[in-house]
Amino acid sequence: SDSLKVALLGCGTVGGAVLRLLTEQSDDLAARIGRRVEVAGVAVRRPDHHPEVPAELLTTDAHGLVTRPDVDLVVEVIGGIEPARSLLLAAIGAGKSVVSANKALLAEDGVALHAAAGQAGVDLYYEAAVAGAIPLLRPLRESLAGDQLRRVVGIVNGTTNYILSRMAETGAGFGEALAEATELGYAEADPTADVDGFDAAAKAAILASLAFHTPVTAADVYREGISAVSATDVARAAEIGCTVKLLAICERVAGADGADDGVAVRVHPAMIPTTHPLASVGGAFNAVFVEAEAAGELMFYGRGAGGEPTASAVLGDLVAVARNRVSGAAGPGTTGYAGLTVRSMADT
Ligand code: HSE
Repeated sequence: SDSLKVALLGCGTVGGAVLRLLTEQSDDLAARIGRRVEVAGVAVRRPDHHPEVPAELLTTDAHGLVTRPDVDLVVEVIGGIEPARSLLLAAIGAGKSVVSANKALLAEDGVALHAAAGQAGVDLYYEAAVAGAIPLLRPLRESLAGDQLRRVVGIVNGTTNYILSRMAETGAGFGEALAEATELGYAEADPTADVDGFDAAAKAAILASLAFHTPVTAADVYREGISAVSATDVARAAEIGCTVKLLAICERVAGADGADDGVAVRVHPAMIPTTHPLASVGGAFNAVFVEAEAAGELMFYGRGAGGEPTASAVLGDLVAVARNRVSGAAGPGTTGYAGLTVRSMADT
């Protein structure tokens, strides 16, 4: 049978790793999917910056690539709102299934993208958008779909966790620790997205939307970054048996009358006792606790950033959507939104 053709949008840290793993593991992936997966093209802004990519695959015409009739699947790892949103909507409109690692876009326009995908009968998967390699979104969407979630709390930004961990371990200054995180490929192109909590807020919005079946956008999330956390704060916390972590907290909350349930989502530095399991999450690792009615407490832990870990999540999604293509099925959308009230901090 014909191979499935994949368009890759973006070829940076994550895209490069996706392309390399797709090529290296092509026989294994073909066996798992039941069809070969072939790269149809790689859209980049500057083809001359990608000598590692076969020249015949490179194009600057991303829109042309995603709407090409022979393309079945689109993988988007360019990040940011535009042109990613237009490209994904064009791809979905042209009947392609989409895998994205784009937290900013999903946190802003997840509802519209899901609606478009639902209408077109194609898949929209974005496991890599939150907590890199950690299987988290599909467990929330699928494995826990029969449970009632109370709370999701986690460390979802590797850069800030790396910085806070280095400050605690070595007394390193903020700037030095940030430079190391950037060097290791954890930080966003603009590290203020990490440091000021925007990255974590986008991830929190996605987690809350899936956990509570209610659309939450990044703008709904109370946000405070780590730029005001000093070496002294970190040392003082240690003296009283605590560690400072940037936490994303998504929870069900009761209204003033106790009856009107809603959802509140926030990101801020917090002191947690060193005995708490989240306190031992070091380096660029991420971890997310889920408290569910029937399941009880669950913890997801792993690498939340970096090219290869993030590529693992992208490839997992690619296998899932490719299998759905082969079987003619579609994965879970967001049908059944409960539409709980999303509360601002002033309400809680
Ligand atoms: N800059 C992000 C982080 C990358 O540090 O967690 C993964 O989204």
